[in-house]
Amino acid sequence: MTDIDDFAARLKTLTDGRASAPRVKDGVMTLALDVGGLAPERRDAVAAAIREGGLMLPGVTDVRIAMTAERRAPRIIAVASGKGGVGKSTLSANLAIALFRLGHKVGLVDADIYGPSQARLLASEDQKPQAREKRLFPVESPLGIPMLSMAHLVDPGKALAWRGPMVGNALGQLIDADWGDTDLLVIDLPPG
Ligand SMILES: Nc1ncnc2c1ncn2[C@@H]1O[C@H](COP(=O)(O)OP(=O)(O)OP(=O)(O)O)[C@@H](O)[C@H]1O
Ligand SMILES: [Mg+2]
Repeated sequence: MTDIDDFAARLKTLTDGRASAPRVKDGVMTLALDVGGLAPERRDAVAAAIREGGLMLPGVTDVRIAMTAERRAPRIIAVASGKGGVGKSTLSANLAIALFRLGHKVGLVDADIYGPSQARLLASEDQKPQAREKRLFPVESPLGIPMLSMAHLVDPGKALAWRGPMVGNALGQLIDADWGDTDLLVIDLPPG
């Protein structure tokens, strides 16, 4: 294995497969890095690590990283049932926790307009999400799982008056929030 092959292999782990194969020409290493969905600090840390690693290779005098911001939507696991009270919320919370413990970057969306319960289940009732440029930022539950709930968008008691399209828009807002590097979203759906 050449140094550059070795570096390319390490790059894969370091960037979670977000970097293209590095090329070196006239001492300049170039590669593309997909930074979509990465928090700015994480993005900068990854770029700095690549630069540092690249410059350590013999013959490399400069490292140029082209960042692409292709947004990667997280994969969705929807928990639904026609009936109420069958354990959707309990299952969603436990599923999110189990996936988190397995090392997945998982987030939780409580889409139950009738009775959002995830804030209580994950003990984040005291937290309010921030919004920046019309985009929501999930709250961090004490276990470390980022989450957003319909309860964050409406006042308690108003929820019952919702109509279909409003629910769709609100759910869209929750899913389109800034989930950072979260790659799996568990969604606790309302009954029916
Ligand atoms: N596997 C289970 N075995 C026994 N009881 C359970 C189980 N899962 C959930 N429960 C209990 O059933 C009740 C309803 O659970 P949960 O709130 O998760 O259901 P839900 O489908 O989300 O309800 P809703 O439709 O009101 O949102 C709760 O009291 C919960 O503790
Ligand atoms: Mg529920």
